[in-house]
Amino acid sequence: MMNLESLKLSSLSENHCGILRQSSNTRPVIWIIEEYGVRAVVKDFSTSKFFYRNIIGRFLIWREHKAYKQLRGLKGIPACYGVIDGLALALEEIPGQPLKKRNKNIKLSGTFFDDLKNIVDSFHRRGLAHSDLKNGANVLVGYNGLPYIVDWSASLSEKECKFFPMNRIYRRFVLDDYFAIIKLKMRYVPETLTPEEKRKYTQQSYIERSVRGIRDRLRKIFKKMV
Ligand SMILES: Nc1ncnc2c1ncn2[C@@H]1O[C@H](COP(=O)(O)OP(=O)(O)OP(=O)(O)O)[C@@H](O)[C@H]1O
Ligand SMILES: [Mg+2]
Repeated sequence: MMNLESLKLSSLSENHCGILRQSSNTRPVIWIIEEYGVRAVVKDFSTSKFFYRNIIGRFLIWREHKAYKQLRGLKGIPACYGVIDGLALALEEIPGQPLKKRNKNIKLSGTFFDDLKNIVDSFHRRGLAHSDLKNGANVLVGYNGLPYIVDWSASLSEKECKFFPMNRIYRRFVLDDYFAIIKLKMRYVPETLTPEEKRKYTQQSYIERSVRGIRDRLRKIFKKMV
């Protein structure tokens, strides 16, 4: 655990151990800090512009914190140490690397995707859909070789989705989480896909391509109009 009382956002830049990622227009800074030998990752909107920081930033931190409270104690999810000044979220650091496209050469253990599926099952049982697992940046491979899932700002809670059309959207997001596993398997260990998974992959890629096609055509029409 980490004591956040003494942490001030304004002094993070002096006391931090490092920056994992600089902030951009829409994205928070990600710090790595250390206190009494405990390392934490801090996702921090305090350097964003006024409106973005106070409207979007606060909202996203509040959403993500809420999700972490619902996930507390689950294997494969970092512990959440809390919120600082409403603008930053402190998390247990998971030393390792994300399953990004450029990390295509990571060697994954034979049970990696089974473990990942167990984590996905476990947060669905808690009534939460992640909805942003597809590109892999939010799936970390720990130095212990095990999967971890971060970035819950776009997650959806089943409790908030009781009625149409939200209940349908929630179902869709749950399915998307499973589809994300297939997509990542296709990238890292395509030889382990079952025929059923291959079928889903082909079908879903077709749907995604069609949606993209329609979107691109609409964009062209729209451009001509303005
Ligand atoms: N607890 C953690 N331990 C280690 N690394 C982390 C942790 N949390 C986040 N990271 C790293 O920081 C990156 C960005 O974090 P996160 O996805 O939560 O922020 P984001 O602003 O939503 O980013 P993006 O817009 O790229 O999805 C992750 O891809 C991961 O590499
Ligand atoms: Mg992310």
